[in-house]
Amino acid sequence: MNLKDQKGTITCKAAICWEPDKPLTVEEIQVEPPSVSEVRVKMLCASICHSDIIALQGFPLALYPRVVGHEGFGVIESVGEGVEGLKEGDTIIPAVIGECKECPNCKTGKTNMCYKFPLNFTGLMLDQTTRMSIKGQKIYHMFTCSTFSEYTVLNSNLVVKVNQAIDPWHASFLSCGFSTGFGAVWKEAKIEQGSSVAIFGLGGVGVGAVAGARSLKAGRIIGIDLNEYKKSKAEFFGLTDFINPNKLNGKSIADKVREMTDGLGVDYSFECTGVESLLNEALDATKTGSGVTVFTGAVVQKHVPILYWTLMAGKTIKGCLMGGVRPHSDLPQLCTKCINKEFDLDGMLTHQVDLNEINHAFELLKQPECLKVVVNMG
Ligand SMILES: NC(=O)c1ccc[n+]([C@@H]2O[C@H](COP(=O)([O-])OP(=O)(O)OC[C@H]3O[C@@H](n4cnc5c(N)ncnc54)[C@H](O)[C@@H]3O)[C@@H](O)[C@H]2O)c1
Ligand SMILES: [Zn+2]
Ligand SMILES: [Zn+2]
Repeated sequence: MNLKDQKGTITCKAAICWEPDKPLTVEEIQVEPPSVSEVRVKMLCASICHSDIIALQGFPLALYPRVVGHEGFGVIESVGEGVEGLKEGDTIIPAVIGECKECPNCKTGKTNMCYKFPLNFTGLMLDQTTRMSIKGQKIYHMFTCSTFSEYTVLNSNLVVKVNQAIDPWHASFLSCGFSTGFGAVWKEAKIEQGSSVAIFGLGGVGVGAVAGARSLKAGRIIGIDLNEYKKSKAEFFGLTDFINPNKLNGKSIADKVREMTDGLGVDYSFECTGVESLLNEALDATKTGSGVTVFTGAVVQKHVPILYWTLMAGKTIKGCLMGGVRPHSDLPQLCTKCINKEFDLDGMLTHQVDLNEINHAFELLKQPECLKVVVNMG
């Protein structure tokens, strides 16, 4: 049972990372009431994105102890002063970036890179303090989300209200990975009907890119993954062709893509693994003169060599966060598409665990027959 003291602080369970490469410990922590412009949320479920794995390893900052997790679905338990448009009982998903609608970037609507609510790597809330602690010791947040806790505090701009009709785990998948891939195709590349696309990596993000490509009526959707199981999962979302790089007998992936596209390469490629060596492969796989590559993968190296001559051949590279999806202007549209079954996110769910089994969830992700793990928060 979760206890709320006289000051409104809640004692509840959360998965804590104390140091890299060590199992998480599920322990009781204290979660303060929401401060100005914040909401406190009872998490109903959460899911794991690859970015959680690299955050646990200390990328880009080694912040411990920490509660990670940034995909999830929950219900607002209380609201802080000055919160508008959200109330107790609303069902929400967290967003890793906000949308103030007033800064130069929000005003143009061309990008989701809000100046006021950028991706927050500090592990702190916007006032540079934390809302979580254990025995008096502060606990760092992740992107001010920290969904692997029964209760969490979020800035109200970094929250998207969703229709209660949505399935909890569908909503959770939409809060990062799937939307990132879908958005990369929809908002960043803005592909034309009939385009050919190559998607490197068919995990949560890659499958979202496949669904985005099908939704925009791509002609050919080629997926590249070392794991054959991902082929069938991605086919459910619209994949038309599959390449296993381990079965190319020394040929490069880009050569294989050209072979499949009359020697030309694809119109668009999407890097969704975060594997450094695949960045140039994704660039190389596109058409000379017009190819566009969107990087979504989080490569941990700060500097990455790019084959300059591929750019001289008239190609374009773009990077993005959340696939260019604006949390308030675009994400609700994806939620509506999901409720209307324009894509069925049941096709992503392979495993469910309880919060107490969180380490098992991370182990499952290393298994070949795993695409997405949902953590039930009880
Ligand atoms: N830009 C953003 O806003 C954003 C958002 C979410 C995730 N990410 C990043 O996107 C990447 C993918 O995240 P995810 O949750 O889909 O990860 P995931 O682990 O679910 O999927 C990665 C897929 O890539 C495949 N893969 C790995 N190495 C490969 C190789 N050498 N060749 C071919 N396939 C290979 C794996 O088999 C797996 O299917 C990660 O780097 C993550 O940190 C970025
Ligand atoms: Zn803004
Ligand atoms: Zn993510």
